[in-house]
Amino acid sequence: MLADKHILLVIAGGVAAYKCLDLIRRLREQGASVRCILTKGGSQFVTPLSVASLSGEKVYSDLFSLTDEAEMGHIRLSREADLVLVAPATADLVAKMAHGIADDLASTTLLATDKPVMIVPSMNVEMWDKPATQRNMATVERDGVLRIGPNSGDLACGEEGAGRLAEVDEIIDGIAGFFSAGTGPLAGKRALVTSGPTHEPIDPVRYIANRSSGKQGHAIAAALRRLGATTTLVTGPTNEADPWGVTVHHIETAEQMMLACTQALPADAAVCAAAVGDWRVATSAKNKIKKNGATPILELVENPDILAGLSVRNENRPQLVVGFAAETENVVAYAQQKRARKGCDWIVANDVSVGTGVMGGDHNKVHLITSNETTAWPTMNKIDVADKLAGLIALHLGAPTTKS
Ligand code: C5P
Repeated sequence: MLADKHILLVIAGGVAAYKCLDLIRRLREQGASVRCILTKGGSQFVTPLSVASLSGEKVYSDLFSLTDEAEMGHIRLSREADLVLVAPATADLVAKMAHGIADDLASTTLLATDKPVMIVPSMNVEMWDKPATQRNMATVERDGVLRIGPNSGDLACGEEGAGRLAEVDEIIDGIAGFFSAGTGPLAGKRALVTSGPTHEPIDPVRYIANRSSGKQGHAIAAALRRLGATTTLVTGPTNEADPWGVTVHHIETAEQMMLACTQALPADAAVCAAAVGDWRVATSAKNKIKKNGATPILELVENPDILAGLSVRNENRPQLVVGFAAETENVVAYAQQKRARKGCDWIVANDVSVGTGVMGGDHNKVHLITSNETTAWPTMNKIDVADKLAGLIALHLGAPTTKS
């Protein structure tokens, strides 16, 4: 996938630096050559010896080393690369990039490079949230730097929140996406994907939601993008990282999801994998409902059906509309009825009954239901389900005929 690509990896001083060792191994497995710059901070977390052993190349650290400069100056280091990757990208190094500071080999190379730069931030959640960091991130992104992550979750510092280094798979995916941009069977096509749950507010602190991790929907958006589609993902609150190269709209309610989907049209294909709340509270309370009053009785009203709305036959209808059906019994029969009722072209039916582990898990067992056949797929990783579905979508859409 990355054959003959030359990657210059800058490893800065973050506790997630150890993940870079695996990253180097995986990049080389994909056919890339990896040359590394290790900052002073980075060398506190991984040794030059382990980086050199895994990359199979000399490791560069010192801006003023006579031998390093003689063998490979900081200018040439990046000139010979196809991509400069910074992982982990610390708050400090990104701040230097934002302000054009060049006071060590890593920052000097980043300032001197004429190659695309991709950063994979990793830091404590408070550092990530600080206005200074957010300003610096916005600045480097405006300057054309590409970013993968960070993810949310447990942080190595013992706290929790945004700031986790993206997983190695996600980094590889982002790099592969960067190199394959504009190619692939879906190049020139537009795809719209919904994912995650919706949160329907009861009051400012409480909400009604469905169970949904967003894993399947996010994987589908990433898979469609990998095949070259210009992809928009409309997602409710999840712990999933924004897939690289996908335009992501974060929403909370079904009505917001509907609006974001409508605004994302036209699309050649739409895949509705979100677990949209069927009902919302008719009038959500402005202030927190107090427990010491009468037990509230919630009046519910029906939410708009996004899948059915996208499936209406008009000039805005995507050529292919795919829905999901999570059922706990009579999975295929119910899903076939749903396909007809919603007016979509395909339904991906999955059994989410207790014990299947599908809900929130990494695997899925689905049936694909089209107008003339129902196919049972074996139990697969959600990423493989997404790849297979994206491949079929590409086949279905056939030759490039994008609406603008
Ligand atoms: O009716 P049900 O919620 O089981 O249908 C599931 C399918 O419909 C999924 O594809 C889901 O994303 C979509 N859906 C929707 N808008 C709703 C409810 C469901 O797009 N309000």
